[in-house]
Amino acid sequence: MDTLTSPDRMREMAREFRARGERIGYVPTMGALHEGHLSLIRRSKQVATKTVVSLFVNPAQFAPSEDFQSYPRNPERDAELARLAGADILYAPKLADVYPPGYRTYVAVEGLGTTLEGASRPGHFRGVATVVVKLLNRVAPHIALFGQKDAQQVILIKKMVRDLEMDLEIEICPTVREEDGLAMSSRNAYLTPEQRRAAPVLFRALKRAESAVLKERERSAQRIVGLIRETVAAEPNVILDYAEVVNAATLAPLERIEGSILIPVAARVGATRLIDNVILNVEG
Ligand code: PAJ
Repeated sequence: MDTLTSPDRMREMAREFRARGERIGYVPTMGALHEGHLSLIRRSKQVATKTVVSLFVNPAQFAPSEDFQSYPRNPERDAELARLAGADILYAPKLADVYPPGYRTYVAVEGLGTTLEGASRPGHFRGVATVVVKLLNRVAPHIALFGQKDAQQVILIKKMVRDLEMDLEIEICPTVREEDGLAMSSRNAYLTPEQRRAAPVLFRALKRAESAVLKERERSAQRIVGLIRETVAAEPNVILDYAEVVNAATLAPLERIEGSILIPVAARVGATRLIDNVILNVEG
């Protein structure tokens, strides 16, 4: 595995790969790699002949009050994990190369970035969309892989790629979980042992919602949200931020459960924000 920090070198490498007929798979990350990230790298190896992983903690997607400074960073460990998972290139650009002084251009995917996570984290998705375009322009992949764990990010990126006529495929991979159901996240590292024990309540709440919809045929979005609230409320260490039932393609809020639906949830566990979601397919 080669590590590149220069954006120009990254572009040259991508050109070389393409000239040789390689198919480039790409996994963007902010590091603190865990099994969720590694599953994307392994999947890329199945669908591409060269896999590029990027490591860049993107300040543009953190609000001033958020954890940009303290976000877990361990580049040596990340490089080793990426190499073991089979990455060919680790692209780790420097902050000043991505956002040089005088930087002015941002990408907004209107209507998709201001609800749910976007409502709780103003500016977050503008930062995500911007850095993803910039990274894709350097890595020039044939296919980029993202995790379902960040459901709104995935919908927004797919829409952006379509709207901007970008020439690549997007593949979404399933959420990787701990044994007790907690979705893997770099931020889980912030949890105290007590908080860590409480955190899987989010997954249990989603499972309860899933079973109500699929087994008990509950079709009221309001009652599903009620079930989730009730489940999470039993765990005083976990404060629900939102739980909603939305159309899985458009994020439009639903009253009646029908078609392909997404149930995204977010909660605070101490100072740590956790998100999770489930997608359900419901016939008329
Ligand atoms: P990060 O949180 O590091 O996640 C990188 C990728 O790993 C994303 O596609 C995310 O959805 C995926 N991922 C995280 N946890 C996962 C899990 N438990 N199971 C499966 N996939 C998981 O998402 C970002 O970084 C950034 O916003 C980024 C896209 C890199 C832009 O800065």
